[in-house]
Amino acid sequence: MPLRLAFLQTAAMNAANRHIMTHDASNLSPLSARRSQALAGRLTVPGDKSISHRSLIFGALAKGETRIDGLLESEDVLNTAKAMQAFGALVTKEESGQWTVSGLGTGALLEPTDILDFGNSGTGARLVMGVAGAHAFASTFMGDASLSGRPMARVLNPLREMGVQVLARSKDRLPLTLKGSDPASPITYRVPMASAQVKSCVLLAGLNMAGTTTLIEPVKTRDHTERMLRGFGAKLEESTNEAGETILTLEGLQELTAQHVTVPGDPSSAAFPIVAALITPGSDLVVENILLNETRTGLLTTLMEMGGDISIQNERESGGERIGDIHVKYSALSGVTVPADRAPSMIDEYPVLAVAAAFAKGETRMEGLEELRVKESDRLSAVAAGLAANNVPHEEGEDYLIVTGGAEKIGGGMVATHLDHRIAMSFLVLGLQAQKPVSVDDVGIIATSFPQFIELMSALGACFEPVPATAE
Ligand code: S3P
Repeated sequence: MPLRLAFLQTAAMNAANRHIMTHDASNLSPLSARRSQALAGRLTVPGDKSISHRSLIFGALAKGETRIDGLLESEDVLNTAKAMQAFGALVTKEESGQWTVSGLGTGALLEPTDILDFGNSGTGARLVMGVAGAHAFASTFMGDASLSGRPMARVLNPLREMGVQVLARSKDRLPLTLKGSDPASPITYRVPMASAQVKSCVLLAGLNMAGTTTLIEPVKTRDHTERMLRGFGAKLEESTNEAGETILTLEGLQELTAQHVTVPGDPSSAAFPIVAALITPGSDLVVENILLNETRTGLLTTLMEMGGDISIQNERESGGERIGDIHVKYSALSGVTVPADRAPSMIDEYPVLAVAAAFAKGETRMEGLEELRVKESDRLSAVAAGLAANNVPHEEGEDYLIVTGGAEKIGGGMVATHLDHRIAMSFLVLGLQAQKPVSVDDVGIIATSFPQFIELMSALGACFEPVPATAE
C-alpha cells in the first residue's frame, strides 16, 4: 500500500475509534412520551434533508455563489457542509439565515487535508464518495458507529468499475479511503437495489469525469439529484426502455451555474406530527410548506387509504417542486396492505407507519421492506423490538411487517433506538396515545435530522417527561 494512503487509513481508524467513544451508553439521553390531549395548531418542519445535502454538494460543484434558503441545519447536513469546505468550497451562513456556497466548478475540487466525518449520514457519505471518487486525489471517510456498520459496497462497486481505488476494512465498511483514478472511466450501471443514494453517487461521479455515464434504474426512487442537476444547468437525458426501466444519460464535466435554492419542508419529518395528529383524538393540525414530490408521498397515500382525514391546501410550485400545506385531523384508521412497489416513495416512513397501524382497526401489512435492514439501524428489527416492548401485536418477516392495531395495553416499554433518529421519534409518537408512557433510550440522535422535534411537538400539546423508574 502506498505510504500516504496507509497513513490516511490509520488516521481514519484512530479518528473513528475516538468518535465511536462519544456514542457509548454513558451519554444517551432517554425520554418518555405519555398520553396527550388533542394536538392543534400550525407548524413548519425543517427543510428537506435530501435536498439540503444536494444543494450544498451542487453549490460546491457550480461556479459562482449558490444561495440556499431553508437549509436543514441538522448534524447530518452540517457534516456535508464541512465536507464541502474541506474540498475547497466556501460555505457560510449569513445573518439573514441564508446559506451561501462559493463553488469551484465540476471536476475542480481540492484534495481535503483532513478526514471527512459524516457522523450518522449515509446520504452525505455515499453522495460525497461519488464526487470524491471522480477526483484524482485521496480522501478518507468516517462516520459514527451506525454509519460504520452500514454497507458501502453498493457505492464502492460502481466506483471501482470507474477506476477508483478503495482502501477499506473488511466488508467495505467505513472508515475507508478513496483514491480517484486519473483519468476515471465513465460506466453504464444498472442500480441493483432501489436506492437514490447509489443512483446519485454514480451520477455525481459521472458529472465530474470526462465521457458519458449511463444509469439504468429498474425501480424509480427519489429524483432530487436529477432535478437539481437540471436546475443547476446540466443536460441530463432520460428515457424508458422496453422493460419500463428509467435510463439516465449524463455527459461529464458539464459546467454548473450557481443557483438560488429554496428548500421546502421535509415530508419525512412532517410524517411525525401527521401521524401524531391522526392517532390523538380531537387533533387538528396544519403542517406548512411541505415537499409533495411524488417520489416522496407514499406515506400520505397510505394514510389516506387507511381512512386518514388529510387534505392538501395552498398547493403551489417552487423551484420545480410541488409544495403544499398538509391539513390533518384525528381519524379512525383501518389497516391496509401497503404494496412493495410503494416502498421507495415512503422508505423512511415505515417506523412511523407502524405506529399509526398500532391504532388502526385490523391488520396493516407492509411488504418489500428489505432495504429497511440497512438504514441507520436494522429498522425492521428495531421497529419490531419496540412494538414488542410496548405490547403491540405484530409479525416480523425477512422483508415484511404485519401490525395488528387496537390492542388494549399498549406502552410501558423502553425502546432501543440504535443511533436511529426515526426509531426515536416514531416511538415517542406511539407514547402520545399509548395507555402507559413509552420511553426511548436516546433522543440526542434526533438532532441528525430534526433538532426541533421535541420543542415543536411540545408546542402542539405533546407531553414528554423523564423516564419513569420502572421503564429504565
Ligand atoms: C436518500 C435516499 C434514501 C433514504 C435516505 C435519503 C437520499 O436512502 O432512505 O434517508 O437523499 O438519496 P437509499 O438510497 O439507501 O434508499
